Amino acid sequence: MTRRTTTLSASVSAVALAAALALTGCSSSSSDAETDSAKSGPELKVSGAFMPQPVMDMAGGFLTITNDGNTADKLTSVTSSLSDDITIHESKNQKMQEVKSFDIPANGELKLERGGSHIMFMELKKQPKQGEKVGIELHFEKSAPIKVELPVEAPNHNPKQH
Ligand code: CU
Repeated sequence: MTRRTTTLSASVSAVALAAALALTGCSSSSSDAETDSAKSGPELKVSGAFMPQPVMDMAGGFLTITNDGNTADKLTSVTSSLSDDITIHESKNQKMQEVKSFDIPANGELKLERGGSHIMFMELKKQPKQGEKVGIELHFEKSAPIKVELPVEAPNHNPKQH
């Protein structure tokens, strides 16, 4: 199965990241993470992730992926132990439909937010409650998978309204 290899590569990149952070810590210069390393590839960062507490056996996931690199990437799939049926949806005219991938433009961002594009979890294996966290893994066309913890928020949580 491909699952094992993606998990492995994710932990390998976590180790690489930890090593990079340790190096930065030892250096006395003011170098931040903006080294000249993979400037040509996509550089993805995830922020603002959350899942509204599900009211039935389905749930949505929302987050922003920022790409600081000069190469575009695509979000192609999402996996989680919470569900075996996870898809990515866009919303058009109040209706949602599944898409194969979402573009993450070079030096741009992909926003998954309420009323718009989102991650869709069906047939939940358990009901996560507000205050808990749901671990997911994002898969991309080019970049290594990224693991994200989604804090479970109130069912009507919407950061845009704050
Ligand atoms: Cu949906």
